[in-house]
Amino acid sequence: MNDNLHQLRCFGCGARISGAEAQADFRCAVCGDLFEVEYPGWNQRQGHDRPNPGALKWLWRERRCSSEALDHSGVWRFRELLPILNSFGNAVTLREGNTPLYPLPRASKALGIDQLFAKHQGMNPTGSFKDTGMTAAMSVARERGFEWVACASTGNTSAAMAAYAARAGLRSLVLIPQGKIAWGKLSQAMDYGAVTCQLDTDFDGCLQLLTQIVREAPIYLLNSVNPYRLEGQKTPAFEIAEAFDWNVPDHLIVPGGNLGNSSALGKGFRELHELGLVGRMPRISVIQAQGANPLVRSFAANHGASLEPVEAHTRATAIRIGNPASWRKAARAILDTGGWCLDVTETEIAIAKAELGAEGLGCEPASAVTLAGLKKLRAHGEVGSGETVVLVLTGHTLKDADYTIDFHKGTLLRDEEKAGHEAEIDRLRRNAQVVEATPAAVLATLKGSAG
Ligand code: F0G
Repeated sequence: MNDNLHQLRCFGCGARISGAEAQADFRCAVCGDLFEVEYPGWNQRQGHDRPNPGALKWLWRERRCSSEALDHSGVWRFRELLPILNSFGNAVTLREGNTPLYPLPRASKALGIDQLFAKHQGMNPTGSFKDTGMTAAMSVARERGFEWVACASTGNTSAAMAAYAARAGLRSLVLIPQGKIAWGKLSQAMDYGAVTCQLDTDFDGCLQLLTQIVREAPIYLLNSVNPYRLEGQKTPAFEIAEAFDWNVPDHLIVPGGNLGNSSALGKGFRELHELGLVGRMPRISVIQAQGANPLVRSFAANHGASLEPVEAHTRATAIRIGNPASWRKAARAILDTGGWCLDVTETEIAIAKAELGAEGLGCEPASAVTLAGLKKLRAHGEVGSGETVVLVLTGHTLKDADYTIDFHKGTLLRDEEKAGHEAEIDRLRRNAQVVEATPAAVLATLKGSAG
């Protein structure tokens, strides 16, 4: 481990340790809080020893034309800001990152916002943003000589971990809440060879159990409490800044579950700002589902100073999390940047997801909270028409096909959930119809669906 270049700093008490000293559960031995990777050289070095912003921007752009596998990764392309490995030859990569930034013309028009984009992290190799974090932390696991890795998951982490473990030649253990994750994701973990345990508890219960297990067995924990995960997950911030020619957007909107991703993106933009690569940070807002909104409650009660866990309920299974591990870090990202933390209903999520589908993109339900949240922020006057806004779509639409089909069949939402939104929902629904196998019948169906 390249402990000369990085160290771990406790987010709670500020204690600093080397990477090698971290406990198996990545909790601080003094206060129990989580760690963050810190690069002391960046702060201490002065003048020409500090990374040169112009040279970095040029190098990262050049790497896009390189034939080196590592340069094809949208994470390791930025490796000067990720000195966490002894040798970059140990990196485990599936060519993650370099995800598309799509304009959203329909939503732009509907909301009266000129510049609205989706950074689609669902276009990663296993279908979610987790790949960017997994390449970083799995590489550390391999360099440290672990044989087994493990995670608790609502689906995406397990698929990403299982794939990267298979590539690294490591064994993996997945703990998931029984019957509460999308089948597409479970199938990936199985296909990539993970030992998969469905447990009669929720995500928070799975993570708690796994924390006990890693204290007893030499298994490397790959949930986002692992600070190296967040190092990989900060790199979409670099891609976004680069895409805007290092003029950051005004506002970034991120879904909130265990709250690692919002924390990581906040760290990414903060580092760019501290190193002089960008002139300011974007506002970072976090959106949760109404039934799984502990951070929203925390902001309402005490501006993110303390958090009471909740029992989580939402059809957006990826963010069905009541006791988020990284809430302090996410609260800092929101507070540092003047962002908002709000929640959206099941109906708002379903409509926003269908609207993103109608843009030709699609995403999983948890990702659609971003558009639903933006609609609320715009309605409250908190986002101006001239602002540049980026929604972070975290997962691929094919993860949860059942949800999408139920929406279009009209069976997803209960009548009381649909109340007041019937017209909007009907406008978006496109049910598959059973039609007689004749040209006349198909053409009649076309006529019937005109408009
Ligand atoms: N969106 C998707 C698609 C997710 O899978 C997750 C988290 C989130 C958003 C929330 O991100 O936890 O960093 O705030 N999924 C986890 C999992 C917990 O196990 O796949 P977060």
